[in-house]
Order: sequence, then C-alpha cells, then structure tokens
Amino acid sequence: MALKEFQNPVKTELGEVEERFKEALMSRLPLVTSVASHILATRGKRYRPTLLLLSAKLTDGPSDRAVCAATVVELIHTATLIHDDSIDKSELRRGSPTVNFKWDDDVSIAMGDVLYSKAFYILVKNQMYDVMDVLAETTHRMSVGEMLELERRHDVDLSEEDYLRMIGEKTASLISASCEIGAMLGEQQDGVRSRFSKCGHALGLAFQITDDVFDFVGRESELGKNIGTDVGSGKFTLPVIAALRNAGSKDRSRIKEILKSGPLMDGKWSELLALMKEYEGIEYSKRRALAYAAEAKDLLNPFEGSPYHLSLCSLVDYTVERRK
Ligand code: IPE
Ligand code: IPE
Ligand code: MG
Ligand code: MG
Repeated sequence: MALKEFQNPVKTELGEVEERFKEALMSRLPLVTSVASHILATRGKRYRPTLLLLSAKLTDGPSDRAVCAATVVELIHTATLIHDDSIDKSELRRGSPTVNFKWDDDVSIAMGDVLYSKAFYILVKNQMYDVMDVLAETTHRMSVGEMLELERRHDVDLSEEDYLRMIGEKTASLISASCEIGAMLGEQQDGVRSRFSKCGHALGLAFQITDDVFDFVGRESELGKNIGTDVGSGKFTLPVIAALRNAGSKDRSRIKEILKSGPLMDGKWSELLALMKEYEGIEYSKRRALAYAAEAKDLLNPFEGSPYHLSLCSLVDYTVERRK
C-alpha cells in the first residue's frame, strides 16, 4: 500500500501542517527565503507528522495542538537532515541537490539552526510546554546520537548493541517522541503515553535499519539519495556488523580490509556486496527490522477496533516494506 493511503485519515490535518510549515519558513531575509524555497520544493514523506497525527487521533487528542506539534516535529526533522547532509558531505537529498551542495556548509549550519530555533519558538508562542519538554530532551538525544556516530566512525569492531544504542538516539528518539506527543495531547494516563513512546522507539529502530539496508541495495532513482555512502564514510551499519559476525576468520579479515580501504573503487563495492550476501548481512537486518515492527504493532494491541489503529499498523508495515 502507498503511504498516501495511511495518510488519508489525517489528510486535512496534514494539509494544515503544510501551511504552517510554509509559514514557519517565511522570512524577510533573501538568503533564508531562497534556501526555504528549495526546501519546500523538495518534499519528504511527512512520516513523523503522520505518526503524530494518527497517534493523537487514536487517543482522542485535540487536532489543533496536534497540527502545531506535527509542524514542529517536521521542522526539527528538516533541520537534522540539513545538518546530517553537511556532516555526511551528501550531494543528493529527495532527488535534488542538498543545501550544502547547492550552497555550502556554512549556509547548512546556519539554516539548520534557523529551523531548530523556529521549532522551539513556535512551541513557546503557543505555550506548549509539555511538548517542549519532550522535544528538548529529544533534540539533545539526537545531537548526542550524531556525535556518538562520529566517535565510532571507522570502527570495524562496532557491536550490534552499540549500533542499536546509536540509532536509538539519532533516529528512534524523534519517531518515539512523535508517537508519545500524539498520545499525550489527549491528557492520557502515563501508561498510554509510555506505551506510545516504546512503540515509537521500536518503530524508529525498524525505520533506521531499513534505511541502512537501502544504503546497500536501494535504488538511487527511487530513494533520491546516493547509496554506498555509509561504508564510504566509515559508518558501519547493521548489514556490515551481521556479515562480519557470520563470516569465518579469513573472510572476516577480508571484509575488514575492504572497509578500511576508503573509497570503494576497483570492484571492491561489488566484492563487499557479494560477501554481505554470502554472510546474510542484508537478510539478518531485514529480519531484525521486521521483528522491531512486530514489537511496535504488539504495543498497539489495546487499541484494536479503532480505524486509526488499522492505519497506524499499516504505517508500521510500510516502514519496513517501503522502497524510499
Ligand atoms: C531520513 O528520514 C533520515 C533518516 C532518519 C534515515 P526520512 O526517510 O523520513 O526522510 P524524508 O523526510 O522522507 O525525506
Ligand atoms: C539519519 O542517518 C540522520 C538523522 C537521524 C538526522 P542517515 O545519515 O543514515 O540518514 P540519510 O541516509 O542521510 O537520510
Ligand atoms: Mg546521512
Ligand atoms: Mg542512511
């Protein structure tokens, strides 16, 4: 099923998020305006706002506050992508040049900050202190997660446990916050709120593992971003960790040699892919993503019967079945 179908039950609210997002990017400064136009012209999936809005619907949260929080979450997500592309030296995002490529790193850093600060400014203006409470901690966790990833760059001995902790901070924290905020807006009891937070965490792990699999076997034309960049920049993700674990000592040494050799020219990329296939790195990762998705759905069991429950479960399935 296409993403649009699960977005249907919150279509009106997502339209409002679009309006508020556009409004939040408005500025009198020509440079901000031109970067903002570029951002608006290259739309993402709006995955996190969809999650937040569906979680709010499922728990009877008021839709005006949910729309505002969903806009803020997308602003934060956009800021992290702009900073992440600059850190990763990526040239392509959503099928268009990245901000760092079209302009430069200085503009990326400054524009990311404009979006981050705007997100919190909006929360204060609307006196949404409870949402701010969650998102202040979340953005801190995301930044520390990105630092953790930098610290472990080029480390061929990264364990699965360390990897999970890292993606839990840098990616799952915002996805978890989106679910938690949706659930908390309807003044839910602590139990419901923490259930959604846990569900979002499992979903976030499934989301990032799937993204990390794309970096090996995704199609650039569908993804709108370049593949092979993780290994190329010394980021060894779950497919690599699993293949290293499954390989015998000779092939393990060979995989490590390839990983350490820098840019993957001269057929090394296809050799690495063949070794990953042989040692089931991709297969294992897909299995783990499916298991986390199943965990996320189980946590939603108490809401069975609601049409929004069905939409959320389909969104969970989409997370691991998507191609972009
Ligand atoms: C990309 O997120 C960054 C990761 C956490 C892997 P999305 O896949 O949600 O990006 P857009 O917003 O749809 O482009
Ligand atoms: C996700 O990591 C980035 C953030 C959570 C900010 P990636 O570096 O894997 O994301 P892509 O692949 O560039 O979208
Ligand atoms: Mg990146
Ligand atoms: Mg990636």
